[in-house]
Amino acid sequence: MSFRTRIEETSKDKDSRIVLALDFPFQEQKNRSQLLHRAEKMLKSVQEHICAVKINHHLILPFGTFGGIQELLRKIHRQQLVAIMDCKANDIGATNRVIAEYYYSAGFDALIANPFVGWEEGLEPIFEAASRHKKGVILLAYMSHKGAKEGYDQTISDSKTGRQLKQYCSFARKALSWNADGVVVGATYPEKIKEIHQILGEKTPIYSPGIGTQGGKIKTALEAGAKYLILGRVITTSEDPDKTAKELNKKIRNAIKIGVA
Ligand code: XMP
Repeated sequence: MSFRTRIEETSKDKDSRIVLALDFPFQEQKNRSQLLHRAEKMLKSVQEHICAVKINHHLILPFGTFGGIQELLRKIHRQQLVAIMDCKANDIGATNRVIAEYYYSAGFDALIANPFVGWEEGLEPIFEAASRHKKGVILLAYMSHKGAKEGYDQTISDSKTGRQLKQYCSFARKALSWNADGVVVGATYPEKIKEIHQILGEKTPIYSPGIGTQGGKIKTALEAGAKYLILGRVITTSEDPDKTAKELNKKIRNAIKIGVA
């Protein structure tokens, strides 16, 4: 089963479109042992309200891809959730291949990569590894932070046709032609979600971070065409993560019910 189908089925089974960004603030060396415990506790308290977990450098830098992280991945999978590595892979092909092999063999179901590096000797080895391991690749298309416009909104000249187009439109087209399993577009830019969704259609889902803490809104993002919502600090820094995740999921379900998405 492809990653795309796996997350779609999980999302239906769990009745949730939430991808939990399992992020925690920097910890000094002496406090790091508590971090994994905190991550497992967070997972346990919100697992019925989410369909996937996204892990970022917040946990990979202190723990790598062995030991505790593999145990965390096993716990994620035991709950029938999927695990995404947000490494924004962005290097030459030979290095990207090694990055992908480490993450996929550790147990991640998909990883996020940056299309800026191109295909040949760029992302091709990641897609090759993904297909061999039956895993997914999700591409950045328009990031959620304020400075995103400096890069993603640039007008570029297509290297093949010479035609002028926006960088994010070029990335969305690449996602289609490379058969990526999804693209990431910030909820803070709903008009970009809409435009990218028009290019992608229904086959390639949009993952949208930036809800809450960064100012993005659930209803607006879904209305514009986002399929999965990546939620981090709005849940992880909440006083009651279980209650917050439940309420946010209810909000998402209601928006879907009234035909927003
Ligand atoms: P918050 O706390 O703002 O966390 O909900 C968002 C999480 O998502 C990551 N992030 C992104 N990842 N493309 C990505 O691949 C993006 O455009 C993007 N914007 C935010 C962020 O690092 C954090 O883990």
